[in-house]
Amino acid sequence: CEKQNGQSSKQRLLVVANRLPVSAVRKGEDSWQLEISVGGLVSALLGVKEFDARWIGWAGVNVPDEIGQKALTKALAEKRCIPVFLDEEIVHQYYNGYCNNILWPLFHYLGLPQEDRLATTRSFQSQFDAYKKANQMFADVVNQHYQEGDVVWCHDYHLMFLPKCLKEYNNKMKVGWFLHTPFPSSEIHRTLPSRSELLRSVLAADLVGFHTYDYARHFVSACTRILGLEGTPEGVEDQGKLTRVAAFPIGIDSDRFIRALELPQVQEDIKELKARFAGRKVMLGVDRLDMIKGIPQKILAFEKFLEENPDWRDKVVLLQIAVPTRTDVPDYQRLTSQVHEIVGRINGRFGTLTAVPLHHLDRSLDFHALCALYAVTDVALVTSLRDGMNLVSYEFVACQASKKGVLILSEFAGAAQSLGAGAVLVNPWNITEVAASIGYALNMLADEREKRHQHNFMHVTTHTSQEWAATFVSELNDTIVEAQLRTSK
Ligand code: G6P
Repeated sequence: CEKQNGQSSKQRLLVVANRLPVSAVRKGEDSWQLEISVGGLVSALLGVKEFDARWIGWAGVNVPDEIGQKALTKALAEKRCIPVFLDEEIVHQYYNGYCNNILWPLFHYLGLPQEDRLATTRSFQSQFDAYKKANQMFADVVNQHYQEGDVVWCHDYHLMFLPKCLKEYNNKMKVGWFLHTPFPSSEIHRTLPSRSELLRSVLAADLVGFHTYDYARHFVSACTRILGLEGTPEGVEDQGKLTRVAAFPIGIDSDRFIRALELPQVQEDIKELKARFAGRKVMLGVDRLDMIKGIPQKILAFEKFLEENPDWRDKVVLLQIAVPTRTDVPDYQRLTSQVHEIVGRINGRFGTLTAVPLHHLDRSLDFHALCALYAVTDVALVTSLRDGMNLVSYEFVACQASKKGVLILSEFAGAAQSLGAGAVLVNPWNITEVAASIGYALNMLADEREKRHQHNFMHVTTHTSQEWAATFVSELNDTIVEAQLRTSK
């Protein structure tokens, strides 16, 4: 931290998100190991260095005892993280239930639970109550650590109730809220039983941000159609109070990836991977094992490509890294079995005694191994059915300065709006189209690859996570100054 008269000259920022950037694993009564958490939100915010930031969130583990809580609080403090302790029942109802079985699928256009997920609908109210209770617990921790002048930045669908809780505690608090998923069309949001309460709580924030202009527009039209409020070019107005609504497309810390490629250890990994897959084009998918990522559809398209292009069968390999996530939610368990079944079928069908066309790993890779993999990839497949932004596409581009590989990208990922001109865009539901795009990408000439890559590389290296955070926070400060001027007139 830069210091002036013993004080930090950077703006104090409280970043509040359900998941801390580190997750805790218990090693003993009072000893903890901390591991970097996965997900787009964490990967973007790790790059944000220009604030005096503290993180407030859940460490991903149940800690019922005081000794464990004290030790974990101390270990996290070294990483500038502050834990919110949630008990098992709350995690079950709030995180597995309301957040990940209701809001997450709905915001990604997969609808509300029905048929075999009806049990969830019956307990909808208790899950919503747990959601509100959990949000209040986050607010209590924020309030304990808040100092006058702090900016409080709340993140994601887990914490839509938080802006309201914070403003009730202190109306002068500067509160921003940012959604990392799509905000769906108001026709979708309209089906949610708690639709109005959630919108009103978010509107308590001073600034509301989304990755794309479309998500912002959907949010404003949900507020006008469902709440009957007035939408203006600046945001949403309710009885003279304006909540500013805008798009702030996120990025990555591209330098971190570019620098990593220079490390001897990464260079060594690159050499090994090249030798291992010599004579074959490498295609890569890196996703959390989540319904929205379209993994079954992607590998079915790969199967179709192999079916229609026998000449390619021993010349291409698809590496699919599928990081397990939300494993207590039944839909995620079903997805895992479904993916394993398809992978087995394809490898049984097209594999030989010495090679298989599809390597599927149910695990994450460490940062350096991932950079090496991105660097040797010829074609990356990001075929989410819906995705707020998708930073894997950015990470791939950042690591491709020498190879200039092709990005096949879903038109339903927010990233399609920023990397669309350089990527090969596809409708991930259309397996025939994705299979044809695989062929197009594998056969693309160097000139075209170069042009497409340059376009995307320029974007990824100039629209970084640092810039994203700085723009959001500065807009939040301006919004508050403007509001003060308006009320003093
Ligand atoms: C998405 C969400 C994040 C979340 C991440 C990982 O990127 O937008 O808020 O942290 O997925 O999911 P998890 O449930 O493991 O936190």
